[in-house]
This record gives sequence, C-alpha cells and structure tokens, in this order.
Amino acid sequence: MPHYYSLGKIPHKRHTQFRREDGNLYSEQLFSTEGFSNDYSLLYHIHPPTEIISTDDPYEVQPRIAEEKMLKHRSFEGFSVKPEADYLKSRKPVLVNSDCHIVLAAPQQSMKDYFYKNADADEMIFIHRGSGVLKTQYGELAFGYGDYLVIPRGTIYQIQFEDADNRLFIVESFSPIRYPKKYLSPYGQLLEHSPYCERDIRGPQRLTSIDEKGDFLIRMKKKGRMYGIHYGHHPLDVVGWDGCCYPYAFSIHDFEPITGRVHQPPPVHQTFEGHNFVVCSFCPRLFDYHPLAIPAPYNHSNIDSDEVLYYVDGDFMSRKNVTKGMITLHPGGIPHGPHPGAVQRSIGAKETKELAVMVDTFHPLMLTVDALEIENPGYTMSWAE
Ligand SMILES: [Fe+2]
Repeated sequence: MPHYYSLGKIPHKRHTQFRREDGNLYSEQLFSTEGFSNDYSLLYHIHPPTEIISTDDPYEVQPRIAEEKMLKHRSFEGFSVKPEADYLKSRKPVLVNSDCHIVLAAPQQSMKDYFYKNADADEMIFIHRGSGVLKTQYGELAFGYGDYLVIPRGTIYQIQFEDADNRLFIVESFSPIRYPKKYLSPYGQLLEHSPYCERDIRGPQRLTSIDEKGDFLIRMKKKGRMYGIHYGHHPLDVVGWDGCCYPYAFSIHDFEPITGRVHQPPPVHQTFEGHNFVVCSFCPRLFDYHPLAIPAPYNHSNIDSDEVLYYVDGDFMSRKNVTKGMITLHPGGIPHGPHPGAVQRSIGAKETKELAVMVDTFHPLMLTVDALEIENPGYTMSWAE
C-alpha cells in the first residue's frame, strides 16, 4: 500500500471534464485491487482502455502439482532452472498454495510483442540477477540487483532487460502485498521503528504516453489460464494519474537490519506481508553483541508456517553447501535449526554478509513438477551427516 503519488497531468477535480488539445475528452479510469473501498488510482488515457478488437484462445498455465502433501525438509537449486527466451515461458512456479505462488524465472529476452497483466495476483519480483526497466501505464521503474518490484494485480506491464543473464524470484500474491502493519501508523505512515521508510520507496518515473493505433496484445493470466486480448490502441497511453495504487521498487540494500544483544527473531526482518504470508529480508548486519551471545539461530518449531528461504549472496553461517539461488523449504510441523558445528563456529563472529529473502506461508505449500526437477537430494537427512 504505497502513499499518494502523482505523475503527468491530471484535472483539478476528479470525475470532471478533462480535454485533449483537439477538444475531445481524456478517458478516466479508476484502478483498484479491492473494489471501491480501498486504495485506488485515477488514470487519464488518450483512448478508452476498453477497446478490444480481437481475442485469442486461452491456454493453461496452472502449476503442475507433483506433491500436494509432505513433511520433509527440502532444498532446491534455483539457478538450475533453465533460462528461456520468453519472459512468460521462463516463469516456473515451484512452491504454491491458495495464498501465493513462488516462482523462479531466468528470462533471456525483453518483452517485445506483447504486454502482460496478472489479473489474479499482485507480483513481487525480486531481481537476483539482471537489470532493466519495468514499463507500465504509471511510468517506468528502472531496476537492478537487489530490487523488489511490487506490481498490483491488473497492472499492464512490459519488462526490458539489459542483457540475457537474468534471475528472478517472484511471489504471486492473491491478496494485496502491503507494508507490514506493525510498521504503519493508523493513517499509513511508516513509523520510526520501521527498517525502511517512504524515502526508500521508488515510485514510477518518466511517464511517456504513446498515442498509437494498431493491434496490441495483452496476455492476461486469470485462474490458471493465459488469455490473449488485443486492443486497438497502445495500452501505455496515460497522460497522467494520481492515487495510492501503483507499482513501486524497493531495494533490499536499503533495508536497515534491526540487531540486538541476543539473537533477534525472524519478524525483525519482515519487509512485506500478504494474506497468510510474510516476506523477510536477511541483510548484511552486525551480529548479536551480548558477551555470551550465540549468533547462529536457535532451533525452532515453526508449527504453523512453511519457511522458504531463498539464498541471494554472501555467506550463510547456519547451513553448509549453500549456493546462490538455492531454496530451502522447512515445513511447519518439524523443528529445524543450524547444521552440526554451525552454532560453535558462530560464537565470536562479529558480522554476517548474508543476503536472503524469506517467505513464510501460514498454510502448507505444494511442490510442483518444476520444483522436483531442481531438488537437491539428501537434504532431509543433512543434519545427521
Ligand atoms: Fe527457520
């Protein structure tokens, strides 16, 4: 839930006559992800955003579930996901439930021939590798290593990558992705104890409105199907907008870690939340400074959540054999903790360079066929080695 923002030209009063130079009216569009009763934006298009000229037959993109139920610690080699030229084809859902889908992607090419809209889910795209520009009706967001791009459901977008080496960790959320409630004032300002604030949030820039007639394809995902809907005008034809519902970027490198004399629990790393899940950022930080502190985490029984950790960079003191892009899944129901020797090794350490993204889901995750293809065998018993 970002704060009020405005770009381009808008009329003084909402819902009033706002005319183009030729005297015709701009088309006003109210955009929200929760009816008319929550945050919204008002966009002003050169042409009506309703002008469908043809539709394609839909195709299935529902994740292929391989294991619906399980109770084992698992680990996956994220960078073993094969790169694919096309952005949408490159997206491989690996861990899914009815609240969110966790997706890995290694797209090689920019989106050129189509635009994309996820009609079901807000998207949080974490840029592990690569840089480029996210183009939307709200303007452009330049992105690079370490950026979270948060894109509300229904946003039409196109991504341009600078080169072919891109690695993305994506969460599709079937509820709005928001800042953690505990860090917000009753009226929505990020409070003093929040690990980031409004200055760290990057709103869209460079609004370019394109007045172009033609055949513009928007691929739209809804309920596990991809629809192709063609419009008669370029979809990025907005001359101005304002409101509180828009895509934004936040860099994990701008997250200010909260530390203490003794080990701090994972909620201090919380960055975003959706319905029934949270996203946390584990960033380089000084370790606990009590004279008898144990910097490695204690064993814990997360009985009511599945813990997904996505390793980004640095050293990971509590685990062995960690690689970049690795995912560990510690399901609710059985305790987990540091690998043998990690607790003793951590004593006296002053700082960690670890960088990781964690997603805790409050309902169990299912594993897809794509997840099993990149699984590290033997992880379940790795504490006994
Ligand atoms: Fe954990």
